[in-house]
Amino acid sequence: MTGKLIAGNWKMNGGLAANELLIKAVLAGLQTPACEVAVCVPAPYLAQTRALLAGSPIDVGAQDVSGHDSGAFTGEISAAMLKEFGVRYVIVGHSERRQHHGETDAGVADKAAKALAAGITPIVCVGETLAQREAGSTEAVVKRQLAAVIHANGHCISEIVVAYEPVWAIGTGQTASPEQAQQVHAVLRAQLKAASAQARRIQILYGGSMNAANAARLLGQSDIDGGLIGGASLKAADFLAIISAAV
Ligand code: 13P
Repeated sequence: MTGKLIAGNWKMNGGLAANELLIKAVLAGLQTPACEVAVCVPAPYLAQTRALLAGSPIDVGAQDVSGHDSGAFTGEISAAMLKEFGVRYVIVGHSERRQHHGETDAGVADKAAKALAAGITPIVCVGETLAQREAGSTEAVVKRQLAAVIHANGHCISEIVVAYEPVWAIGTGQTASPEQAQQVHAVLRAQLKAASAQARRIQILYGGSMNAANAARLLGQSDIDGGLIGGASLKAADFLAIISAAV
């Protein structure tokens, strides 16, 4: 098992001035981290973020990537373009994109494949809605979502990162309990292990209202290898506290 990864997902937040303040505050408070750290920023800010983080232990990430290489795909950003900006990670299949932009399991698998081909680590998001949890289908849903990515990327599946993000816990302040999260992470771990002997190395992150107060208990679970942090990654003190909890 590699170390933990704490990745901020800024979502559609920020601005040139605010980004600089936030990154400078995080860097000022950052001791040598015991874990890997990344921030996944809106695409227009990749160059700025890369420059501000140069020489620091924090990697730059993006929030989406095209499932195509190039051509007539207005508005899309290719993995090769992201690579030119020093992007190390890209989030794929975030529930907000599945919900609001009609992303399918197969489309998410294509995006992961393009990222991998460009040498960018896809952070593959899976997670159930509240209705699916209440219907008892959590396990089936996350396994189906991950299976599509495994099916399309079996040969290099050990290069991905997985993020379990229960939709009902995102931005709601309602975190999955450490036990609830661990239960799903164990299911995902077993699925990955069955797909690849190298799966021990795959980091499975938890995301959904992780904050300074609950991070240590979540990150203390045996199959939780880090966090994908939304709101709390926009506040330097909170993001730093979560990084410190990832030992
Ligand atoms: P919050 O931490 O704001 O709940 O967001 C989680 C998330 O969606 C990260 O990708």
